[in-house]
Amino acid sequence: MSAIQPIIFSTAVGTALALFAFGCGESSDAPTPPKPAERAPAPPPAQPPDPANTLDTPSDEIALVEADAKAGEADYQVYCASCHGGAGAGDGPVAQALNPKPARHDDGAYMNPLTDDYLFKVIKFGGASVGKSPMMAPLGSSLSDQRIHNVIAFIRTLADPPYQP
Ligand code: HEC
Repeated sequence: MSAIQPIIFSTAVGTALALFAFGCGESSDAPTPPKPAERAPAPPPAQPPDPANTLDTPSDEIALVEADAKAGEADYQVYCASCHGGAGAGDGPVAQALNPKPARHDDGAYMNPLTDDYLFKVIKFGGASVGKSPMMAPLGSSLSDQRIHNVIAFIRTLADPPYQP
């Protein structure tokens, strides 16, 4: 009798351990953290704002990006040439109807003394912002600060005599 008891005991313990281990194996499935693929996709890393697409960047900050006259020419043809003419001679198709006439950007004697800051203001906020004709429209809602700087760089290439910074 006393020799059998340990066998029963150890069997019982062994069964209990086996059940315990089995139970653990089963229940441990539920609370496992989701696999990486099941988690929500991580947000993309923060990108610095593209200067060409920000309208409210202070102009002195944006000036760190070098103005691109070639890119400015493309915007000039779209946004300025109808009045100022494709080469800045003030002879765009709309110019005839305007009084005062659009400025000649090829007139270096007139344009060269005008500062970049002044031109920026005229283009961004319109002629009225500097006491000029309101027909010189504010283009700040169409052109980012960077694109305005690009247009200014292009205007500077039209001047005769040439613009010397
Ligand atoms: C709807 C016609 C029109 C468009 C479009 C236009 N302008 Fe003008 N712009 C004018 C007129 C008119 C004046 C003359 C204002 C005056 O002398 O009172 C002028 C004047 C200017 C001047 C000279 C300001 C001064 O002090 O004499 C600059 C620089 C200028 N425009 C730049 C631009 C640029 C750059 C664009 C395109 C991004 C543009 N303009 C688009 C009509 C236009």
